[in-house]
Amino acid sequence: MEIAELGVVNDLDLVLLHQVFGEDRKELVAPKEVIPQEGDSGPVKICEPWCWPAGLNAAGRPRPDDVVTRFFRVLHLTMMPLQWVASATMSDGFPVDRVRADTPGVETVVHLNNAGSSLPPDVVVDTVIDHLRREASIGGYEARDEAGARIDAVYGSIARLINGRAEQVAIVENATRAWDMAVYGYPFQAGDRVLTGRTEYASNLIALRQLRDRHRLEIVLIEDDDAGQIDLDHLERELSAGAAMVALTHIATSGGLINPAAEVGRLCRAHGVFFVLDACQSIGQVPVDVEAIGCNVLTTTGRKFLRGPRGTGFLWVDGDALDRLTPPLLDLHAAEITDDGYRLVDGARRFENWERYFAGTLGLGAAVDYLLGLGIDATTGRTLALGRSLRAGLEAATGVTVHDKGVDKGAIVTFSMDGVPASEVKERLAAAGINTSVSSGLRARYDLGDRGLDLVIRASVHYYNTVEELEHFFGTIERIRNERS
Ligand SMILES: Cc1ncc(COP(=O)(O)O)c(C=O)c1O
Repeated sequence: MEIAELGVVNDLDLVLLHQVFGEDRKELVAPKEVIPQEGDSGPVKICEPWCWPAGLNAAGRPRPDDVVTRFFRVLHLTMMPLQWVASATMSDGFPVDRVRADTPGVETVVHLNNAGSSLPPDVVVDTVIDHLRREASIGGYEARDEAGARIDAVYGSIARLINGRAEQVAIVENATRAWDMAVYGYPFQAGDRVLTGRTEYASNLIALRQLRDRHRLEIVLIEDDDAGQIDLDHLERELSAGAAMVALTHIATSGGLINPAAEVGRLCRAHGVFFVLDACQSIGQVPVDVEAIGCNVLTTTGRKFLRGPRGTGFLWVDGDALDRLTPPLLDLHAAEITDDGYRLVDGARRFENWERYFAGTLGLGAAVDYLLGLGIDATTGRTLALGRSLRAGLEAATGVTVHDKGVDKGAIVTFSMDGVPASEVKERLAAAGINTSVSSGLRARYDLGDRGLDLVIRASVHYYNTVEELEHFFGTIERIRNERS
C-alpha cells in the first residue's frame, strides 16, 4: 500500500492522532486508518485512500481537515467516546483560561452563536465605553480629535490581519454596506454576466438582482461540485464564456462550508475578472490573506468571528479596483468639493461616511489587535478543532442529521433533529443556557432551500468555547431527543 506524505498537521491534530493511534498503530494498518509518524512532530503519513495530497486549505496550507474528517469517521467506527476525543483534541497550548477570563459572557451563557455575533472580550467593550464616556465628558468632536492617532491605527491593524495596506481599508457599518459600496460602484454594462455560488449571502443576491434589473445583467449560478463547494470546473467554463464579476461567499452563513477562495481567485486572475469576496464569516475564523487569495474586494463585519462591536464592518479594495469603482454615495469625507465639482479622496476612505461610530471603530481595532495578539494560526487551530468536535458529536448522535457540505469545513454546523422543529430545539437549548440560531431555507434558497431544508439549527463555536460546553450541548440534545421519543 502506498504511503503518501500529507505535510505538517498542526500540533493539536498531531496530539490527537498520537493519543488515539500511538500505542497500537500496527493493528491499524488498514485502508482506512491514519498512521502518525514516529516522533512528536513532523509530517503525518496517511495510507491511501486517506491521503489528499493535492488539497490546500483556505489559508493555502495542506489540509489537516481532510485527515481529521476521515479520522473522525474511524472514531465513529471504533465507537470511541466523544468526551475522550474532545479532550484529546483540546490538549494544545492555547491560553483558553486567559481568553475566557477576558470574556465575561462565558460566565452567563454557553455561546454557540458565534456566526451570529460572538461574545466580545473586555478590551473591546471597555474601549467602546471609554470612548463614549470621553464623548460625553469633553464633546464628540473633541473626543474624535483626541483619539485621531488611535483611529488611524485601526486601519493599520486591519491591514496587518489581512495582509493588505492601510489605505486600502474603509471602515463602515457592517458587511452588507461594505459589499454594497463596492458592487453598486462597479461600472456594469448592459448584458454583463455576474457569476455567483449557491451559498452567496441573501443580501448580496438581493442587491445583485436589483443591479440586474437596473443594468440588464445576467446572474449565473455556479453549481456545487460533488463535495458541495463551488464547482471550479463549472466556474472556469463560465469565466471562459465571459464575465464581468465573480461574487463569492467564502464561508457560508448556513453551514460548515469553506469555499476554495484562493482557487477562485486564481481563476479570476487568469480570466481578468473582478472578484468580490464576502469574508463576513471567515475573518477571525480562519487566516485570510488578500494577496494569496487574489480578490479585488473583500468585505466583512466586526461582530462575528472578529469579536468586535455590532454596527462595524470593513471593506478592503485593491489599488486597481479603487480606480475601477465609483462609490455609489459620496459626502464631504469621501470627496472634496472643488470650484465646480468634486474630487474623490485618495484611498479606500472614499467609501466611508463622514459621520461615523468612532467608539465602534476603536472597538473594532481593539478586537483586531486582540486577535493579532493571540495569533490567527493559534485561534484558527482551536476554533476548527472545536468545530470538528461539534460536527463529529452531532454526526454520531441518534436522530440528528448534519447538513454541512464541502471539503474544508469550519466552525459553523447546521443540523436538524428528527421530529423536533428547529425553533423548538433552539428554545430548549436556550432554556439550558445555550445560544444557537435557526437558519432558514428561504434566506439560503440556493443552498438549504434547494436541498429541501426549510429551517435548521445552526451551532457555531469560537476558540473561547470549551469541551465541557460541548458536552453540556450534546447532553441537552440527547435529553431533547429522549423526551420526544
Ligand atoms: C456570509 C455573510 N455575508 C454577509 C452577512 C451580512 O453581514 P452584516 O449583517 O454585517 O451586514 C452575513 C451575516 O450573517 C453573512 O453571514
